[in-house]
Amino acid sequence: MAAERWRRKAHSVADLRRLARRALPRMVFDFCDGGAGDERTLRRNEAAFAEIELLPEPLNGTTGRDLSVELFGRRLALPVLLGPTGMAGMLWPEGELAAARAAAAAGTVYVMSHGSTVAIEDLAERHVGPRWFQTFMYRDRGLTRAMAERAAASGYQALVLTVDNQVLGVRERDLRNGFTIPPRIGPGGALDVLRSVSWLWRMRRRRDVTFANYASGERRDILSLGAYIGTLLDPGASWRDVEWLRGLWAGPLLLKGVLHPTEARRAVATGVDGVIVSNHGGRQLDDVPAAIEALPGVVAAVDGQIPVLIDGGIRRGADVVKALALGARACLIGRPHLWGLAVAGEAGVARVLEIYRDELDRVLALGGWDGIAAVGRGALWRRGGSPFGDGVREARGAALVRAS
Ligand SMILES: Cc1cc2nc3c(=O)[nH]c(=O)nc-3n(C[C@H](O)[C@H](O)[C@H](O)COP(=O)(O)O)c2cc1C
Repeated sequence: MAAERWRRKAHSVADLRRLARRALPRMVFDFCDGGAGDERTLRRNEAAFAEIELLPEPLNGTTGRDLSVELFGRRLALPVLLGPTGMAGMLWPEGELAAARAAAAAGTVYVMSHGSTVAIEDLAERHVGPRWFQTFMYRDRGLTRAMAERAAASGYQALVLTVDNQVLGVRERDLRNGFTIPPRIGPGGALDVLRSVSWLWRMRRRRDVTFANYASGERRDILSLGAYIGTLLDPGASWRDVEWLRGLWAGPLLLKGVLHPTEARRAVATGVDGVIVSNHGGRQLDDVPAAIEALPGVVAAVDGQIPVLIDGGIRRGADVVKALALGARACLIGRPHLWGLAVAGEAGVARVLEIYRDELDRVLALGGWDGIAAVGRGALWRRGGSPFGDGVREARGAALVRAS
């Protein structure tokens, strides 16, 4: 899409989603956009933010707003990180590198997925900026160890262990579109791909796009390799393994996919440095709570001992403010940065981050909060008319804490 044309249409994250939908073949768009089962959790992630409202105090006389946040000894310009997303290179050539560069320019962290199409070492060589690495617990603990060691050797500052993906979720859009194993592009699918001319042109030399961090003996296409990776994951992974990983990774270790307060408390006891409240963007277990609903229970459980981060459904600067007001230290975005990537590569991701920054700044200004640190629960109102503090959602979080 010509540079100025897409920019003129990209005023919000939702705009970038619309543009991405037009730019990508349907099956590729749906792969990024979709969720597991009936997609109830996917929808709730976004809808739950609309149930929390902001209670401004405009006469606080705020002038400059500080959007920066401290995480593991490093100050980030923005409390919005790019979350790990596999196969970003399917949307844009070397998509992970493009996204990482946009993150660095915005002064924030790029979390590289295990399933990147650019290798751990390649990204490290070609990108200057804060980067973390996301991994899994594999049946072969030697592979988990090797991933961690490669990340450490390449200067990744933190390790993220995703715990909600040890069995692959089923995204039915992928099945309906034939985006499955082995890939079946029927006549309908071929027509659909042909409509995405710019994408086809950009990706013409990228037919061999694959997961770059796995050494696979035989040559596989990306889809059957995805299934193969599924067989590497250990559904029996437990706290013993987290302890083991803690022992071999010296830097900050985060668990991603924590929803239950008991797990959050156990994470603290195991020496984990941070938890990410996440339901994998509704792509794994459907019918779990929206991430923002689970947040208060986790925040209460860790009781300030380690930072709590969150992802899932964060589409506006206002959503970031709500998450921070409920005790999150920072947010991660998954799909939104992929939409930007699909539209315009690095410039598209930069635009997405710029939108979050501008919206966040404006919300703080209108709310009378002179920075992120000034936003607390008093800034929130439950839709329908009560201060947030005594709402159903908090009661739910507290009940979970008590029950655990
Ligand atoms: C296409 C895609 C690929 C993803 N791949 C991974 C992954 O490799 N590892 C991981 O921990 N999470 C992965 N996720 C989940 C994201 O890290 C994040 O939890 C989720 O997208 C957040 O929700 P949001 O998309 O509403 O922001 C992926 C998400 C998407 C959309």
